[in-house]
Amino acid sequence: MNTSNDSVQPLYKMPGRLTKATDDCMYRECDGSGMIHVIREDDSEVMMMCRCREYKELLHKIKTARIPDEYLDKRINDFDAKIYQVKKSVEVAQYAKRIATRYVEQYLEMEDMGKGLYFYSNTKGAGKTLLSIAIVNELIIEYKIKSTYISVVNMLNEMKHSFSNNDPKRNFYNLMESFKQAPVLVMDDLGVEKTTDWSEEVLTQILDERMSYKRPTIITSNMPIRLLQKKYPAGRIKSRIEKMTFPVVMPEESVREIISKKENEKIAMMFLNEVD
Ligand SMILES: Nc1ncnc2c1ncn2[C@@H]1O[C@H](COP(=O)(O)OP(=O)(O)OP(=O)(O)O)[C@@H](O)[C@H]1O
Ligand SMILES: [Mg+2]
Ligand SMILES: [Zn+2]
Repeated sequence: MNTSNDSVQPLYKMPGRLTKATDDCMYRECDGSGMIHVIREDDSEVMMMCRCREYKELLHKIKTARIPDEYLDKRINDFDAKIYQVKKSVEVAQYAKRIATRYVEQYLEMEDMGKGLYFYSNTKGAGKTLLSIAIVNELIIEYKIKSTYISVVNMLNEMKHSFSNNDPKRNFYNLMESFKQAPVLVMDDLGVEKTTDWSEEVLTQILDERMSYKRPTIITSNMPIRLLQKKYPAGRIKSRIEKMTFPVVMPEESVREIISKKENEKIAMMFLNEVD
């Protein structure tokens, strides 16, 4: 709308950005809302997307993925194949890292096939959780895929407690659905939980639905797939996982131990220097 006297035009009709730039926006281009209200020269108004929005959406995806703090910012490159002290472990880790990288690169084909990965080694602290979460973080960043991380023990506990839970969002049915429907699901530490008829049935139902709808599942375990038959005697879990995942052996060496030894050596040095 143009009036004959431009000087009386109200301020909000002046061409330019109406949204104030504040520190709430990491780029200082919007007010933190992610949108910038702009009035063009021809008086038309548009809401433009600020570049902080994509970043915020990414953060939201990472937050809702329920990844433990320790692994929040881990990427595949943080998985160091040379940290292992045994030569065989380095080779095994290099192979696992290569598979992880290729999996992310070729994720769209993997998604079409409904294929996930199955990382296993009997040793605790070998890097299974780190590598599986690093993959998921890459998928979130690169493909904006909504993912969920959960340890199998927690998964079953949450479902057990859901019967006495009054929050309708976390009732048994909704929890089951959230695990069945997560576009990508990491099931960490499969096999360490106590098997009962109930837990086997619940896990079977989740895996069955994910297999039918070709939703990729990344699993870590302390046993190779063939031993799942013993762990879950009804037999439907092993055959589903065989179909749904590509198995990747992990080193039988604890990086947790290597790291803590190094830390303690450093502390010992600090203490000894103090005595001097
Ligand atoms: N290859 C690696 N490079 C760098 N850090 C590693 C590597 N492997 C493991 N770590 C670190 O060592 C610790 C233990 O690793 P992680 O939790 O992934 O082991 P895990 O195999 O899942 O063990 P668990 O069987 O106890 O669950 C973590 O702090 C992780 O970041
Ligand atoms: Mg682990
Ligand atoms: Zn912004």
